[in-house]
Amino acid sequence: MPIILAIESSCDDSSVALLKGHRLIGMRQSGQEEHQRFGGVVPELASRAHQEWLSLIINDLIHDTSTSWSDIKAIAYTRGPGLMGSLMVGAAVAKGLALSLDIPLIGVNHLHGHLVSHFVEQELEEGIFPMLSLTVSGGHTHLVWMESWLEGSSLCATLDDAAGEAFDKCAKMLGLPYPGGPVLDRLAAQGDSGAYSWPMPQLGNEAYSFSGLKTSVLYYLAKHKPDLEDRRDSALRDLCASIQANVVEVLMKPVLHHAGQRKPRSLGLAGGVAANSLLRSRMLALGEQLGCKVHIPPLTWCTDNAAMIATSARILMDHGKVAVESMGEKPLPRWPLMDYLVELSVLNLGQEGES
Ligand code: KG4
Ligand code: ZN
Repeated sequence: MPIILAIESSCDDSSVALLKGHRLIGMRQSGQEEHQRFGGVVPELASRAHQEWLSLIINDLIHDTSTSWSDIKAIAYTRGPGLMGSLMVGAAVAKGLALSLDIPLIGVNHLHGHLVSHFVEQELEEGIFPMLSLTVSGGHTHLVWMESWLEGSSLCATLDDAAGEAFDKCAKMLGLPYPGGPVLDRLAAQGDSGAYSWPMPQLGNEAYSFSGLKTSVLYYLAKHKPDLEDRRDSALRDLCASIQANVVEVLMKPVLHHAGQRKPRSLGLAGGVAANSLLRSRMLALGEQLGCKVHIPPLTWCTDNAAMIATSARILMDHGKVAVESMGEKPLPRWPLMDYLVELSVLNLGQEGES
């Protein structure tokens, strides 16, 4: 069983993992707290931190797991989408290792990593397809219909902000620390979601939008700040609960529609926002109602991590879809999941079975 060394550096977290078959040998991460004081990720700081950390955590991982370099049979890295500078650092480290070890280099799509994150440390079942899968993170909001591990079509994507971005921006307006999503989720648990009502976009089931919510919250706070000061804590909790309810309602509407129409064999939820308690419970309830399995990763695999990149690379290897000439590939800051799947299907024609 070949060992894959995976590198994830698409945004602020540096993460590296070693995977053997479906067994995760180990993972090392380094967060970048310095972004907190800016209320968001600063791309230049992120890429410098990757430069500082990646080699260190790779060496730690190899040393702590007593892995020999010669046992590593492929290097996987996040080729995109993400921040250009951060991707370039990950790509440079990955290429250097693949070149010096003379082993294959596998450029992975970060969104496919999220999509398969539930299957880190799991055998890959084939009976789960078709799967209706929602990926929700700080940069992406995408509902897809997956026919197999590497074939699918897009059903609904965001026109403006991603769901995590909507949570983070609303949380920032409420004076909560970055990233606001998890804090807002915690406060919402003690609030009344019916205390405020926010507009629902009228976009049908093929597009998401969160800009209306963001603008409404901004205007409401500008107008009512003095009244809110009197009942600071309870108002804050109610605002969090009602904002969370709105985001989850917007996310679930197309999920309910397409699930009803297409009858999936399973449901999937992935990405950082899959950590949201209300969204998780709504997806689980839908699965129960439809009588189908719901794949939601444990919290560790919801946010960006290299184990999901390794799992995605493992799927590519299993399907013989490792490009031979990958050394010249450039990082792709914008790389839609569907473009990636189409590229893979073409690769399949000429190179089935090669890995
Ligand atoms: O997948 P991820 O780690 O990074 C990206 O690829 O973007 O997702 C991070 C996003 C942030 O916007 C964060 O606020 C959000 O996931 N998030 C949450 C929760 N935990 C993380 N949003 C709502 N509720 C949560 N519990
Ligand atoms: Zn992500």
